[in-house]
Amino acid sequence: LAGVFSRSVGAPAAATPAQALAPLTILFGSQTGTAEGLAKKVAKEAGKRGFAPTVLDMAQTDLAKLAHEKNLLVITSTYGDGEPPDNAKALHTALKEAAGTPLTAVRFSVCALGDTNYAQFCQCGKDLDAWLEKLGATRTTPRTDCDLDYDGPFTKWLDAALASLAGGTAPATAPAEAKPTDSSEEGYSKKKPFPASVLAVRNLNGPGSAKEVNHVEFSLEGSGLVYEAGDALGVVPQNCPALVNDVLATLGCDGEEAVPTPAGELPLRRALTECFDLGKPSPELLAMVAPAVAGVAAPGPGSTNPPATFHHVIDVLLAAPTKPSPADFVAKLKKLQPRLYSISSSPKAHPGQVHLTVGAVRYDKDGRSRKGVCSTFLAERGLAAGKVGVFVHANKAFRPPADGNVPMIMVGPGTGIAPFRAFLEERRASGARGKNWLFFGDQKAASDFLYRNELTAMQTSGVLHRLDLAFSRDQAEKIYVQTRMLENAAELWTWLEAGAHFYVCGDASRMAKDVDLALHQVIEKAGGKSPEQAAAYVNALKAAKRYARDVY
Ligand code: 2AM
Repeated sequence: LAGVFSRSVGAPAAATPAQALAPLTILFGSQTGTAEGLAKKVAKEAGKRGFAPTVLDMAQTDLAKLAHEKNLLVITSTYGDGEPPDNAKALHTALKEAAGTPLTAVRFSVCALGDTNYAQFCQCGKDLDAWLEKLGATRTTPRTDCDLDYDGPFTKWLDAALASLAGGTAPATAPAEAKPTDSSEEGYSKKKPFPASVLAVRNLNGPGSAKEVNHVEFSLEGSGLVYEAGDALGVVPQNCPALVNDVLATLGCDGEEAVPTPAGELPLRRALTECFDLGKPSPELLAMVAPAVAGVAAPGPGSTNPPATFHHVIDVLLAAPTKPSPADFVAKLKKLQPRLYSISSSPKAHPGQVHLTVGAVRYDKDGRSRKGVCSTFLAERGLAAGKVGVFVHANKAFRPPADGNVPMIMVGPGTGIAPFRAFLEERRASGARGKNWLFFGDQKAASDFLYRNELTAMQTSGVLHRLDLAFSRDQAEKIYVQTRMLENAAELWTWLEAGAHFYVCGDASRMAKDVDLALHQVIEKAGGKSPEQAAAYVNALKAAKRYARDVY
């Protein structure tokens, strides 16, 4: 759940006191804080341009309040299966179901954040954009859909959106800088990752497992980076050398050719290893082959689903009738992006270190073996790389309770265990006395019981009060974490009534939905509530920040 944030930001320097400033509301839908951070940047810039900006959490408004907005900028991310962030859910539903033209007085523009690796790219932003218009609001600048590399498109959108809301007149002060300045720019950050030593990479699965989950330890010594249990770590990956070789061979290059990159001119091999994404092809790259391939239409503007045969960049290159020059080729590639992983250590338990729990992604498609860039980089070359670029991504909405006496219920199957290892270590290190209940699940007990020794030791020492396990493939029928929740409905209800916080981490599209449903069922069954009352109970948990999710 994104943190509640609602206040006016910045005093516009250019305005005279007598002049009424144009009110501007910047509404954000945010799961991990990125959209919230950008909303604050909008406010800062808007203040400089003579607006009176207010940053508003979507959970803090509704249709009736929206009807009173004059100027509205919306920034929202999208999660899992095209879903809105948790703090945007209620407004998303309200706008979807609303009719008539209650918003005719509102002028707006939407900036959508997303990831083109997902089919429902930027869906929440697209929905809000369409529904605001449907309800009578006036779009002053077209929506911008940002991929992971959002800096450039966001800045362009911000410039255009503020100019159009100001009535198309020249801004009172200088236009937005290419990158809004950040007061924390001195230290290590996403823009300046810290080269961290890799201390260990250890496979957590036993023999016979169908999975490969690695425990990865980095040193933060000398970085000045700090984090808290619940935060994520950004990791800067490198592409697989074998894949880079395939790409070079297909291009007919030896890798020494100099090409332009965001980091300056580099030899092609290094550029392909460190700077460019060799995964899902960009529309510009697809355009190289689409007209030449019978029966495959070039994806139209805004299309984000390339034909299956062009799964990755290499597939496009192999099919291209003429191979591009090295410079033309890299100009059509997306920037390689850092990956975020939930941190699985407490800084109190491992001073100077940060740990991750990373599932290696490997699969075959169209006769070629494919790998997740960062997960297999860490697995195969993390130790050899010596130093790996990292930065801390704060996740303020996902923290153990501030009061150490408050009980915690944690549901984290598979790699979803990561932040809960951190939460438990945190509580052990701080001597917090609240009770802790963990639901963990995976395929097989013998090979997939991640952190088994640590968890059982925490049970023995009294830090972990309840551990319920769901191994889905140890018997004929599927047993999942939510199966265990329902079996323990009465006790779960008692914990909730005692003020427990409820946390979920892991798969968003299936697990987290089913766990949410199970939570409702527990409240109905053990709390004797109707479905409507249970929904109200869950909403109250969210409003009290006692239901937090870190799902992906
Ligand atoms: P399965 O792969 O055997 O179906 C971690 O990946 C665990 O989550 C596995 O045991 C996996 O089971 C299980 N899982 C799969 N789908 C799930 C769902 N909808 N809800 C809960 N757990 C699920």
